[in-house]
Amino acid sequence: MASTKNERTFIMVKPDGVQRGVVGHVIHRFEQRGYKLVALKMLQAPRALLESHYEEHKGKKFYEILLAYIGSGPVVAMVWEGLTAVSVGRKMLGATDPAKSEPGTIRGDFGIVTGRNIVHGSDSEASAKREIALWFKPDEISQWTHTAEQWIY
Ligand code: TYD
Ligand code: MG
Repeated sequence: MASTKNERTFIMVKPDGVQRGVVGHVIHRFEQRGYKLVALKMLQAPRALLESHYEEHKGKKFYEILLAYIGSGPVVAMVWEGLTAVSVGRKMLGATDPAKSEPGTIRGDFGIVTGRNIVHGSDSEASAKREIALWFKPDEISQWTHTAEQWIY
């Protein structure tokens, strides 16, 4: 599918990012890059939601530890919109293991270990669609005009 300015990605500040006061940094970086925030909420995710969200990892050795970590406190779930939001979003997050993330990425600037890697970001357009539908109802997503858009594209 051709990329469009309507491409959406699901970005979540994990409980460690919330506890460490990184929420504003994450929002600022996506705003600064030119992406449009179209949905945001804070919640402590119930286990069933996390099981669906991380279904690809079920059975792996880190799975239960991962669910305990992400369910341990509130997260900030967001949907960001714009051209190549999924792939650029992943670059902005950095590698899964923060020790391997480049400085300048969120994980590379704020994290050290995989089990405390601050943020989640969808890894493909299909994952983004699936994750957005899991975390948000359609009426929780706002359509609005980004007045600076002509200076971004
Ligand atoms: P994964 O989807 O591979 O990484 P990403 O978040 O970059 O898409 O893994 C999901 C999360 O699971 C990852 O952010 C942290 C955790 N995890 C571990 O705790 N240990 C591991 O060995 C891996 C691969 C992931
Ligand atoms: Mg992943």
